[in-house]
Amino acid sequence: MLNVSDLDVSYGHVRVLKNVNIAVEKGEIVTIIGSNGSGKSTLLRTISGIIRPNSGKIKFGGDTIERVPAEKMVARGMSHVPEGRQLFGALSVLENLQLGAYIRLRSRKESKRQVAEDMQFVFSMFPVLKERENQPAGTLSGGEQQMLAIGRALMSKPKLLLLDEPSMGLAPIIIQKIFATLRELREKGLTLLLVEQDATVALSIADRGYVLQNGEVVMHDTGSNLLNNDEVKAIYFGHRKHAH
Ligand SMILES: Nc1ncnc2c1ncn2[C@@H]1O[C@H](COP(=O)(O)OP(=O)(O)OP(=O)(O)O)[C@@H](O)[C@H]1O
Ligand SMILES: [Mg+2]
Repeated sequence: MLNVSDLDVSYGHVRVLKNVNIAVEKGEIVTIIGSNGSGKSTLLRTISGIIRPNSGKIKFGGDTIERVPAEKMVARGMSHVPEGRQLFGALSVLENLQLGAYIRLRSRKESKRQVAEDMQFVFSMFPVLKERENQPAGTLSGGEQQMLAIGRALMSKPKLLLLDEPSMGLAPIIIQKIFATLRELREKGLTLLLVEQDATVALSIADRGYVLQNGEVVMHDTGSNLLNNDEVKAIYFGHRKHAH
């Protein structure tokens, strides 16, 4: 479904991604783990069209997309849950979810009824959002905000969901709940590419994983092999970033 080949990305003169190759097959959960500054967010932002690469190819469902801008990627079925959630804090839960469906409504002329059904689906995945539908997003707890960020992305009806550190700043019990929901979404047919600094939780739900170090893929294997890999354990386990 997604193929990234020989990807190179720089900020000014600083090369941040070096010859990166990754693939995601339909129905998989793939994770990219790596420490602070290894280039994880840059990779997701390049895939979703926010950043243009210096060189390399990105294919999504057979189309070459490395020059397609982000807003067009949403309409093509790719949705990005950014690092730090980036909700509209003054708008209600409901309004944030409606914004998630905006591009899709505009580009595919889908019915409001279809959108309402998808809203029900999001509420079934995250019942707390229904309870708080009229509350400003900025007043939700960290875990609820992450659920809303995922819910908003789901409202664009993606085929591929990109997630940038959904565990960030959250208590372990909330992380478990969110990751259980990600697995449920995969069972319902969604494909997920998940970037995480918390390698333990990410590898425990991933079919396959890549380890990114200083902008280079240094290892890739199945989730369970990486979970049991001594080098991965020594370097990446027990790392957890706190909210900014
Ligand atoms: N807009 C930017 N301009 C210049 N340099 C940047 C920019 N964004 C990121 N960088 C640099 O690129 C490198 C990779 O950053 P990136 O945010 O992709 O890492 P990351 O793996 O997501 O880190 P973290 O785990 O802290 O989120 C870092 O050295 C960072 O300082
Ligand atoms: Mg990041």
